[in-house]
Amino acid sequence: MKLAARLHAVQPSVTLAMSARAAELRQSGTDVFAFGVGEPDFEPPDAVLDAAREAIGKGVSKYTAVTGIAPLKAAICDHARRKKGFSPVPEQVTVTVGAKHALFNLAIALFEPGDEVLIPSPFWVSYPEQVRMMGAEPVIVPTREEDGWRMSGAALAAAVTPRTKALILCTPSNPTGAAYTPAELRALLEVVRAGDYWLIADEIYAELSYDGASIRSVAELAPDLLDRTVIVDGGSTTYAMTGWRIGWAISPRPLAKALDTVQGQSTTNPSAIAQHAALAALTGPQEAISRMRDAFQARRDVMVAELNAVPGVRCRVPEGAFYAFADCRGLYGLPWGEKRIASDEDVAFFLLEKAHVAAVPGGAFGAPGYVRFSYATSEERIRAGVASMRQAVAAARG
Ligand SMILES: Cc1ncc(COP(=O)(O)O)c(C=O)c1O
Repeated sequence: MKLAARLHAVQPSVTLAMSARAAELRQSGTDVFAFGVGEPDFEPPDAVLDAAREAIGKGVSKYTAVTGIAPLKAAICDHARRKKGFSPVPEQVTVTVGAKHALFNLAIALFEPGDEVLIPSPFWVSYPEQVRMMGAEPVIVPTREEDGWRMSGAALAAAVTPRTKALILCTPSNPTGAAYTPAELRALLEVVRAGDYWLIADEIYAELSYDGASIRSVAELAPDLLDRTVIVDGGSTTYAMTGWRIGWAISPRPLAKALDTVQGQSTTNPSAIAQHAALAALTGPQEAISRMRDAFQARRDVMVAELNAVPGVRCRVPEGAFYAFADCRGLYGLPWGEKRIASDEDVAFFLLEKAHVAAVPGGAFGAPGYVRFSYATSEERIRAGVASMRQAVAAARG
C-alpha cells in the first residue's frame, strides 16, 4: 500500500499514544492517574447543555453556513471585543471543528513547500506536524526554562529569513504553561512588525492564567498588524467543551474567504448542534470560567509542590494553562527492568508501569528531559498520583 509522500515526515501524536497505553492498563483493571490528558475534567456550563437539548428539540439538524451560524459569529466578535480588545466583523470569523481544525485550515490556506514557519519550543505537538503535512518546514526556536520558557525578540529576529511565512505563538503555552507578559509580547510584536509574515496567535488558554496575571491578546497590543494576524480560540478549554469540537479563527477578510473555500471542500461546517451550544457558552453566564480558573490554580499549586518533593524531579511554577512541565533528568540512571532510565520517554513509561501515572514525555514537545503533567484532575488524585511516583522512585533507588 502506498501512502502520500506528505505523510513521511509526519509523526503520529505521542499524546494520543500515551493515552492509548493508559487506556489499556485501565481496561485491565489498573487505577491509572490521568496526568497525560489535555482537557478540563469539568462539565460545560448548564447553559451549554440546555442549548444543545433545545437545538435538538427545535429540529436543528441541517447543514449550516460553511463558516458558522450568524449568531455564533456575532457572539465570537463580541467576545473578541470584550476579551481581546479588538473589533472584528463576522466576515472575519471561521467557526471550525475545534481550534486544531482552525490551525489545520490555516496551514492548508497558507503553507507550501519552500515556506518556513517559526515555532518556539517547547511547542504543542500539532504545530510542526501540520506544517510538515503541507510540505513546509517548521523552524523551531528553542526557549529555555531559565528564561521562563519565553522567546526573546532577539531570538525571534535571528530566526526570521526571507522564507518565513508565519510565526505560531501560543500563550499561555501548552506544554509549559508559560505566559508572556504584555511587555514581553510587545517586544516580540516589534520584531514581527519589522518583518513580512503571518502571526498566528493560539489563544486557546487565554482564560486560564493565574495569580491575576494580565493576559492580553496580540490583537489588542498590535492593531497595526491585524492585516496579517490570525487569532485562534475555541470552546474546548474555556468552557470545557473539548468533545463538542468548536473552535474558530479570526483573520483578515481575504484569508477568511480562503478559509471558507478550504472548509467548504472539507468539513462543510462544524456540527450545527455544537454551534448552538457554543453560542450559549459565549452568551450565557460566565461564572463557570472563574470557578474553573480558581480550581486550576489551587491544583497547580498542589501539583508543583508535590512534584518538587519527588527526589530527582524539579518543576517551575507555570503561569497558565493546566500543565506542570517538570525537569525529570534527575531520575536518569535509576534502574528500570533490565536497563536504566536514560530519557524522558523512559521516565514516562517508568511512571506509567511502576506508579500508574500517565504523563507525556517532553521530547514530544521538543524538550527532551522534561515530562508534562496535566493537573486537570482533582487535588486528591494529584496528591495520590504523585505519592505513587515518590514510592516508585524510592523503590527504584533501593
Ligand atoms: C495549544 C493548543 N491549541 C489548540 C488545541 C486544540 O483545541 P481544540 O480541542 O479546540 O481542537 C489544544 C488542545 O489541546 C492546545 O493545547
